[in-house]
Amino acid sequence: MSSMTQITPEIADLVRGAPERPLLIFDAERLARRAARFQAGFPGLVTYAVKANPLPEVLRTLARAGVRSFDVASPAEMEAVRAAVPGAVLHYHNPIRSPAEVEAGKAHGAVSWSVDDMAGLDRLMPMEPGTEIAVRLRLPVRGGAYDFGVKFGADPEAAEALLREVAARGLTPSLTFHPGTQCRDAEAWAVYIHEAARVAAAAGVRLHRVNVGGGFPHWGSVDEAELSAIFERIGTATREAFGAGAPALVCEPGRAMVAGAFAVLARVKALRGDGAAVLNDGIYGALSEWRDVPRAPEVAVLGPDGEARGGAPLARVVYGPTCDSLDRLPQPLGLPSDMAEGDAILFPGMGAYSVALATRFNGYGDLSIVRARTLA
Ligand SMILES: Cc1ncc(COP(=O)(O)O)c(C=O)c1O
Repeated sequence: MSSMTQITPEIADLVRGAPERPLLIFDAERLARRAARFQAGFPGLVTYAVKANPLPEVLRTLARAGVRSFDVASPAEMEAVRAAVPGAVLHYHNPIRSPAEVEAGKAHGAVSWSVDDMAGLDRLMPMEPGTEIAVRLRLPVRGGAYDFGVKFGADPEAAEALLREVAARGLTPSLTFHPGTQCRDAEAWAVYIHEAARVAAAAGVRLHRVNVGGGFPHWGSVDEAELSAIFERIGTATREAFGAGAPALVCEPGRAMVAGAFAVLARVKALRGDGAAVLNDGIYGALSEWRDVPRAPEVAVLGPDGEARGGAPLARVVYGPTCDSLDRLPQPLGLPSDMAEGDAILFPGMGAYSVALATRFNGYGDLSIVRARTLA
């Protein structure tokens, strides 16, 4: 169990209440502290990628903590932000948009628009002169949990042509990239920043801003020093690559901003004869991302009295509640030998891509959101 998540009296109380549905436990104070950490450490503007967790209480907590700019991918996300945070600044950074989505972005007053090809730029026209267009660059850089360059991004030559065209159309050229989610390698950002400077120079364009994306890691043994090292490297790479008059920096974290602010409390519905556990949540619910992003299975098991189980860990296959055999965690979890039916399993660090990805398959996936402190 991560030292960063504790079984507080409030969590023990929740367990004793024997909730039938999985609980998503929200620690708003932790989210506010995380926002402050990003704003103090990142050498530029901190925005939030709404896709990671669009709950209104998340958006409002971030706004109260000073995060007022949001990376949105769809009209529904824009509406969610507008409803929760009046006056928010919107960066519409999904480069593929239908004509109706372009109109919605304009109606919502999005101030920054990413593009990754000429057709995408054409789809935005006509645009208010001076609108910021962030050309999305892609490079074969590794470091993330999977490759974010497969779907979006312009190779350097195409990015150069796009930047030139953006400037020629009287719009404001910026550049953006995403090194891949859960990126543990600070050099991934540095390589992108250096290439951003080269591409801009080749295009003869002065960049207004460089948006270094999200991708900041949460899972594994990531600690504060690792995050600081990434912030630092982004700053030094920008100075090396651009020198004096460097463009302003922007980041748009999802995972690393919100993951630690939530825990999932699931229950053991049944223990099977072979030791496998069937939970009331699984990969069609809040644990959906476990299929794609490897993570340390840092969980705690609590009996119905709210006390942690202490038996030796036993590797158990873990199934979700639906009838599908694929509804199973990719790796067995080390769960206590004395675990029993009706016990609760606390999964920390579950704020990102959990509620956002949960389906209602088989009638499950309806998470109850409760507030509690997850640090004593
Ligand atoms: C454009 C953009 N920005 C930011 C993010 C957030 O990434 P992460 O959750 O890895 O920080 C994503 C994730 O898909 C994205 O597509």
